Amino acid sequence: MRVTTSVLSTLSLALQAQAYSNYSGSYSSGGYYGGRESCAFSVGKQVRTTSGTVLGHRAPNATQVSEYLGIPFAVPPLGPLRFAPPVPYTSHRHINASLHGANCPSTSATVPEALSPPSLYNLLADLGQVNDTQNEDCLYVNVWSKPQSGSALKPVLVWIYGGGFNSGGTNSSAYSGQHWADEEDVVFVNFNYRLNVFGFPGAEVLEQNVGLLDQRLAVEWVRTNIGGFGGDPTRITIFGESAGGASVDYYNYAWTKDPIIAGSIAQSGTATSFGNRGLAAQQEAWASVAARVGCNQTNPAQVLSCMRSPNVTMTALLNAASAGTSGLASVLGSFGPTIDNRTVFANYTDRALKGQYIQNPSIFGNNYFEAGLFILLGAGSGASSPLDFWRSFDQTIFTCPITTAARWRAEVGRLPTWRYIYRAVFPNIRLPTDMGEAWHGAELLPLFGTSEVVTKQDSTWQERALGSYMRSAWSAFAHDPEYGLETFGWRRFDGQGGRPSVLQLGFGETNSTTFEVEPSYNTTMAYDTGCPAFPG
Ligand SMILES: *[C@@H]1O[C@H](CO)[C@@H](O)[C@H](O)[C@H]1NC(C)=O
Ligand SMILES: *[C@@H]1O[C@H](CO)[C@@H](O)[C@H](O)[C@H]1NC(C)=O
Ligand SMILES: *[C@@H]1O[C@H](CO)[C@@H](O)[C@H](O)[C@H]1NC(C)=O
Ligand SMILES: *[C@@H]1O[C@H](CO)[C@@H](O)[C@H](O)[C@H]1NC(C)=O
Ligand SMILES: *[C@@H]1O[C@H](CO)[C@@H](O)[C@H](O)[C@H]1NC(C)=O
Ligand SMILES: *[C@@H]1O[C@H](CO)[C@@H](O)[C@H](O)[C@H]1NC(C)=O
Ligand SMILES: *[C@@H]1O[C@H](CO)[C@@H](O)[C@H](O)[C@H]1NC(C)=O
Ligand SMILES: *[C@@H]1O[C@H](CO)[C@@H](O)[C@H](O)[C@H]1NC(C)=O
Ligand SMILES: *[C@@H]1O[C@H](CO)[C@@H](O)[C@H](O)[C@H]1NC(C)=O
Ligand SMILES: *[C@@H]1O[C@H](CO)[C@@H](O)[C@H](O)[C@H]1NC(C)=O
Ligand SMILES: *[C@@H]1O[C@H](CO)[C@@H](O)[C@H](O)[C@H]1NC(C)=O
Repeated sequence: MRVTTSVLSTLSLALQAQAYSNYSGSYSSGGYYGGRESCAFSVGKQVRTTSGTVLGHRAPNATQVSEYLGIPFAVPPLGPLRFAPPVPYTSHRHINASLHGANCPSTSATVPEALSPPSLYNLLADLGQVNDTQNEDCLYVNVWSKPQSGSALKPVLVWIYGGGFNSGGTNSSAYSGQHWADEEDVVFVNFNYRLNVFGFPGAEVLEQNVGLLDQRLAVEWVRTNIGGFGGDPTRITIFGESAGGASVDYYNYAWTKDPIIAGSIAQSGTATSFGNRGLAAQQEAWASVAARVGCNQTNPAQVLSCMRSPNVTMTALLNAASAGTSGLASVLGSFGPTIDNRTVFANYTDRALKGQYIQNPSIFGNNYFEAGLFILLGAGSGASSPLDFWRSFDQTIFTCPITTAARWRAEVGRLPTWRYIYRAVFPNIRLPTDMGEAWHGAELLPLFGTSEVVTKQDSTWQERALGSYMRSAWSAFAHDPEYGLETFGWRRFDGQGGRPSVLQLGFGETNSTTFEVEPSYNTTMAYDTGCPAFPG
């Protein structure tokens, strides 16, 4: 007998119907719909959004997951919209969401040549955007979902990438959401936001921090549209790493009036980690870039209009923005979040003590020796410093801001808060400079389940197990930010309060058969040596 496609699809529908007929609809669905709703979802089906009707497809390595790539959420920020706040994109057109949008213009890190093992080069080339295609037309969102099983309305995890506000993008296999949507009962979203001078231009006649406004607009897009993908707009958790972690924290202070989010996770970055630029410094940086590209008019409005003219190209702006920087500064760039008292504030201690942030649950965490990556990148751009410098760098930029942010919430705000230290190092992602400890970004590939695809080298079972454990923990939080992690078995962080409550993830012999994915606990003090007096 010839088996036709239509027979196959009827069969598969029947099997699906059987699978869902037993579904009670009670699992964390918040009582929105019964399970029957989800039967209607076939993989890659068209979904109506405010951006248009989007057509998805099967995720490449998770065949039940629907993947939607490159959905515009803002009008392309070109010409007169270059450097301007994002404008929501709406249309009724059909969008074939088959390919990623381009990454935003960025300066990539110098990846040292002849890195060994090759897995390490592959990893840093991917995260460092070697040979990356970039375009100013870059404001796109991607969605991964598996509505045909699990809760009828799933919590939503929205990822904000890091890269010092100067690099990073979602057209990277590192940040694919397919494993999240496949293994966990969540809808996964990531998006691009503008970087460098494009996202943080610093012109006095402009609104500041338009890159952070891109992030906000993407979250608004998720609220409006995620229901069509099986997501629950009342349970959105934002999370990010490094500049993405800082973005999460900025968001919490900036959008108290209409929070949208139900919880947040800041990995290796907070609103105070990287130092916020004063307006004057940023205006100066803007003026030097303008002068370098030949826009040195005295009238600020004329400078801006010159900077937007087509003869000033994306490449010219990027080159001008990184000219005159060297060493680590060339990695971190001259443009970034600037104090405007709207999206970035002058005194976070003050706001924290007054509770002027979104009052909901959160996770804060960082890696044990973040500096390992910066030592390597520093070496790549010719800079080196003694180990003591790096230890203090680690405390000042990462551990202490994370400690303080978590304590503000746990001890002052009395909000459900969790805090972790990630300590695992695995063979395919080990840096020569990490001294056997977890470097800045070491958790990303395990967390996304993309270590093998990116490094092109096998992961150990321990790496896979820890990654999938962390995905489950993050998802338990997204399901129920207040109690999900308690049910999952995690202790709340209680600051210096009593029993040890800093979760150590991936602690111990990561290559031994006794490797334990469950966290162990340590006293806060062990990690917080040298941090400023609390509450600041
Ligand atoms: C649904 O329930 C029926 C009867 O209890 C059982 O035979 C079947 O295996 C169940 N299907 C699934 C997918 O659990
Ligand atoms: C899917 O898996 C294949 C084989 O491991 C890999 O080459 C490819 O990059 C993966 N694609 C994605 C998007 O993960
Ligand atoms: C969508 O784009 C993909 C890749 O470009 C192509 O293979 C597919 O045929 C397109 N689908 C439609 C309906 O246009
Ligand atoms: C996305 O990345 C892939 C692989 O690097 C590249 O081939 C493709 O052109 C990129 N897409 C865009 C729109 O830049
Ligand atoms: C980047 O492009 C160069 C020149 O085409 C090529 O030799 C190199 O292999 C590419 N690197 C990566 C990581 O794709
Ligand atoms: C680009 O064009 C503007 C006017 O549109 C002009 O003022 C400026 O000098 C030009 N810049 C360069 C580098 O040609
Ligand atoms: C702009 O730069 C040009 C060339 O360096 C110079 O001749 C001119 O005086 C400058 N204009 C202003 C307003 O600074
Ligand atoms: C922001 O607020 C601080 C403290 O209130 C003030 O000193 C600063 O001038 C303000 N900055 C801007 C750009 O408004
Ligand atoms: C920030 O606010 C705190 C608490 O109100 C205050 O003690 C501190 O002096 C302020 N810092 C600055 C630099 O103004
Ligand atoms: C684990 O790795 C350490 C450091 O590389 C090594 O000394 C030890 O022998 C390894 N243990 C096992 C069980 O492979
Ligand atoms: C606690 O952390 C310190 C500092 O890293 C470490 O030396 C110690 O072994 C840890 N203790 C436990 C019980 O995990």
